[in-house]
Amino acid sequence: MSPIRKIRLVVLISGRGSNLQAILDQAASGELPADVVAVISNRPGVHGLERARRAGVPALELDHKNFADRSSFESALIELIDRYQPDLVILAGFMRVLTAGFTDHYRGRIFNIHPSLLPKFRGLHTHERVLAAGETEHGASIHFVTAELDGGPVIVQARVPILPGDDPDTLAARVLEQEHRLYPQAIRWFAAGRLRLDGERVWFDGQPLEMPLRLEEVDRQ
Ligand code: GAR
Repeated sequence: MSPIRKIRLVVLISGRGSNLQAILDQAASGELPADVVAVISNRPGVHGLERARRAGVPALELDHKNFADRSSFESALIELIDRYQPDLVILAGFMRVLTAGFTDHYRGRIFNIHPSLLPKFRGLHTHERVLAAGETEHGASIHFVTAELDGGPVIVQARVPILPGDDPDTLAARVLEQEHRLYPQAIRWFAAGRLRLDGERVWFDGQPLEMPLRLEEVDRQ
């Protein structure tokens, strides 16, 4: 087996950090060839920061409320992230809109997770909206981040059924379980050099993707 180089991850959060925890756990067990080198939250005191500290990872707060405008916050965030020289920046429940000044700086090396089958249901409250729309399936997506909110090229998705009697909480829990498998898999592919962004296209194993990969169809590889 050819050894896979470990990549450096900086993870941005705004809250609970369960996706962060899935990544930390897989990095610790060796399933993910990655080191989380810093966790940054734009909201002070959130639980995800505690998860980082417990894993021995620098847990940093950069409160957007301390900045006069979006661009000064983003400049400070770039400066902080780049101190850690990440190969990949991971948005894991990071709930700030990012402008092109930020997203262009990390183009091709920044992922987001979104709780819907993009391009459906961009934005907030996806579980409620999916139920209200009478959908029969739902899921989560990993995409390269561009300046278009939840609009960057999608890499991989996980699907879940919508079951009779579902409410936003039961549905969110079913999606979240998949999110915790989905994010590590996308990071593994990136670490192995199998994924890249070219223009608006995702390339996987040297081929442009016609549509997002489906987690349930790709065994761990
Ligand atoms: C996750 O469900 C993630 O998909 C969502 O926030 C949650 C964070 O949970 N992200 C977005 O809605 C981004 N638009 P976590 O803090 O437990 O990882």
